[in-house]
Order: sequence, then C-alpha cells, then structure tokens
Amino acid sequence: MSLTDFPAGARLSPPGVSLPKVTVPALTEMKRQAKPISALTAYDYSTARLADEAGIDLILVGDSLAMVVLGHENTLAVTVDEMLHHTRAVRRAVRRALVVSDMPFGSYHGPIAEGLANAVRFVKEAGAEAVKIEGPRVELVRALTDAEIPVIGHLGLTPQSVHRMGGYRVQARTADAVLQLEADAFALAHAGAGAIVLEGVPREAAQQITAALPVPTIGIGAGPDCDGQILVFHDLVNLDFSPTAKFVRRYADASALFRSAIERYREDVEHRTFPSDAESYHLPESSRRMVQISVDGADSAANRDAHEEPNRKSNRR
Ligand code: KIV
Repeated sequence: MSLTDFPAGARLSPPGVSLPKVTVPALTEMKRQAKPISALTAYDYSTARLADEAGIDLILVGDSLAMVVLGHENTLAVTVDEMLHHTRAVRRAVRRALVVSDMPFGSYHGPIAEGLANAVRFVKEAGAEAVKIEGPRVELVRALTDAEIPVIGHLGLTPQSVHRMGGYRVQARTADAVLQLEADAFALAHAGAGAIVLEGVPREAAQQITAALPVPTIGIGAGPDCDGQILVFHDLVNLDFSPTAKFVRRYADASALFRSAIERYREDVEHRTFPSDAESYHLPESSRRMVQISVDGADSAANRDAHEEPNRKSNRR
C-alpha cells in the first residue's frame, strides 16, 4: 500500500482553489503564458495545507528544513529519512500544488545509480512529484528524467556548497560567471530539468537566463524577472530567528503572534483562569449526586456536556 494514500472522500478541492493539479509540464505552460509561478517551502501538514489552500503552485519540502525546523546551522545534516518523513506529511495535505522534495546533501553526490535509487524513494515512499537537486549535475538529471522522475535544478547560490563557496554569497557576479551560469541552466534544461531555481544571483543574470531558457526559472534572491518566485515559509512569516536577508519580504509576524499566545496561555495556567468551567466536561446530574461532586455554576453545562467527546480531529478532511 502506498504511504501517501488519502482517506476516502479526501480528494475534493478546497474552497477557492481551482484544480487541476499543477504538474511539471504545467509549469512550462505557465511560462509560455507569462503566468507567474508562486512557490513556497513547507515541511508539515498544517503549513502545506495552508499554502495549498492559498493557491500556491509549487510546494517545496526544502532541505532548509535542517535549519528552520531542526535547528541545524546549515542544510548539510538533514538525512534522506528525515526528508522523506516531512515529505509524507506535506503530501497528505496537498491537493493542487506540485510537491517537490529536496534531495539532501550526500544523497546524490556519489554514483548516479545511488542518486537514482534515493530519488526513487522520494517518489515511491513519500509521494514527491519531482525532486530538486543542486548544481549542474547534468548526467544525474538525464538519468532521473529517463527514470520518469521529474527534476527541478538549482543553480547560483547552492546552500549545500556552503563550504566550497566560503559562506552564503551572491554568485555570478562577473560576465564570465553569468555565461557559465547560463550554460549550466541550458545543460540542465536539455537534460530534462522541468524548471531551474536561481538563488542569490544578480537580477540582470536571472533576467537574461529567464528570457533565454525554454523552462521556467524560479527565483529566490534573483530579482523580479524570473518566471516564478520561491521563499522559505519561516522567512515569510518571521519564524526564522535570524536577520532578514535582503531578498526576503516578511508578510506576517508569526513570532510575535505565537509568543503572545504562548505567554497568555502560561499566565492563564499560572492564575488558574484556564481552563474555565465552560471548558470542562461534566458528569450528568444523577451521577454527580452519587459521587457527591458539587461544582458551582455547572448545572446548565452538565447535561449538555455529559456525552460530549473531545473533537480533536474535526479539522481533518
Ligand atoms: O531548501 C530550500 O528551502 C530551498 C529554497 C530556498 C529554494 O532550496
């Protein structure tokens, strides 16, 4: 049985979201129609579901998971098994968006056969609809494409190369480097990549490559001329506990929201104002008399709540 089976009746599209499902060929069609591609990372059921219901086209289970969810210093430590675990959660939430999984550092840097075997796991065991790999690994992209696994390339600032790059630095800052970047993008596209993420490159470089390339570019820190844009969810809502990079726009302050909610909850517990009587379950009056429980002001709630079950799963589809 697939690990990504949906519960019966769960395939209805959410209100406000127009199907059909986004696919890799659909991204190229969007480029052709000059329709911007919206992409966002997600790592769990709830955020993936919000992103999907908001109409995001592509949801990436990024290896940024290592940093923003698991607290590592960089992306290098996250494992295939961890990425699979989070991809499964995202896949269960998503109805419309294309679900792409990042292949983590070390999972495709050795023999092609090993990269292929790991990519197959993302599709077979977690329901990924494409995998993303960093760098101009043309032979691997060709092998994955031949094996029917759609691939998204990732060029420019490739975080898995942090040690080689000597830090997270803007790439392609000379004319020669822009030409090399463009050649790499073309090589990946010709090998079968369905789109290319361009990260941390000058706007002019991204603009030139986007105009020339037959497949879409999806930018992050690459200016507004790419065919689409991607951000890390935790950056978008200020949950990343780090200074804002130049290319990030904060659309909400979830840190402030969550912090305040958690502090108010703690205070209510400490002052015994949570839970209230109305937030409590009660015995029916007859049983209460028998066990001689007396709860002030609880009479009206008693009969109503007597047979009520906790409704923890009501938000599930
Ligand atoms: O891991 C990630 O979040 C990414 C995006 C920044 C493109 O690769």
